[in-house]
Amino acid sequence: MADEPLVLGIETSCDETGVGVVRGTTLLADAVASSVDEHARFGGVVPEVASRAHLEAMVPTIDRALKEAGVTAGDLDGIAVTAGPGLAGALLVGVSAAKAYAYALGKPLYGVNHLASHICVDQLEHGPLPEPTMALLVSGGHSSLLLSEDITSDVRPMGATIDDAAGEAFDKIARVLNLGFPGGPVIDRYAREGDPGAIAFPRGLTGPRDPAYDFSFSGLKTAVARWIEARRAAGEEVPVRDVAASFQEAVVDVLTRKAVRACKDQGVDHLMIGGGVAANSRLRVLAQERCEAAGIRLRVPRPKLCTDNGAMVAALGAEMVSRNRAASDWDLSADSSLPVTDPHVPGQAHAHAHEAGTENLYS
Ligand code: KG4
Ligand code: ZN
Repeated sequence: MADEPLVLGIETSCDETGVGVVRGTTLLADAVASSVDEHARFGGVVPEVASRAHLEAMVPTIDRALKEAGVTAGDLDGIAVTAGPGLAGALLVGVSAAKAYAYALGKPLYGVNHLASHICVDQLEHGPLPEPTMALLVSGGHSSLLLSEDITSDVRPMGATIDDAAGEAFDKIARVLNLGFPGGPVIDRYAREGDPGAIAFPRGLTGPRDPAYDFSFSGLKTAVARWIEARRAAGEEVPVRDVAASFQEAVVDVLTRKAVRACKDQGVDHLMIGGGVAANSRLRVLAQERCEAAGIRLRVPRPKLCTDNGAMVAALGAEMVSRNRAASDWDLSADSSLPVTDPHVPGQAHAHAHEAGTENLYS
């Protein structure tokens, strides 16, 4: 529909400069410039390298997205940008660019939450998000279970990792196996030819007294590394495919078990999975099996929308416009630890209303 809001979204929380253009819940463009190759030799993302790469990629990526969408900057109804959480310096590049464009064009600015964007992106694939929806977000930087009652105003944390993120565990095990960075895709590939039951690796935080929705991957990581070291010390060959498959099974078993349990406990019958690890082929299969068995509808966007991208930010921005949420002020700042309970950063008038305890903040 032509009267649906046309929004450009900018995402720079990590190593991907993402710029997306969305009309309502329709994806028009998703341009990404990645600096992943520049970080590969360090085995992880180097914040300063990422910030510089964002700066260089920003204007060309915005131009590319607008062109791909077949719209001009003047047509836009708003500019959305990831305000946090993420790497402070990297976020700052996106926030500064978004402010400059919004101010110059006279368009409203929406500073939005990276995690809420990961959830909202599914609207571009499967249509409007049911309310409530349980979301399992698993990437290199986060592993959390979130309950979204309203993606623009009410997102509640159910559980999170207490140590490593799921993707981080994939990256670290890939490094131990000398498979390169990022580790997820390559472990996924090797695992397809391995036996997931070959080695019984531990399932973190699954004991009866453990927190039901929190995750821990550091014990698993150590167990896998020790297992590999022991083989190497004994001069035995490491069965890379079996290790990859068994490690991956331990991760996705816990993720899906806890996500389905959270849905059942809360009476929520829609589960979405997002973040880079949602690209994992075994996670998708096991989640589908377990959701079906529990009568839960599973929504997983295609891999390109699961990893960090600008379209997800545009999707949440468009939702903010559609639901008349307050735009951000010109002094919007990047907040590297923006809480997930803040799906966006509304302007000061609303912040003061909030301080005064005014009900109905967004109406
Ligand atoms: O969402 P994302 O692109 O960036 C953030 O970390 O925010 O996620 C990247 C993470 C990396 O840790 C990568 O190893 C992991 O997602 N990943 C995967 C797969 N593809 C990417 N993990 C498991 N299986 C995959 N197929
Ligand atoms: Zn992310």
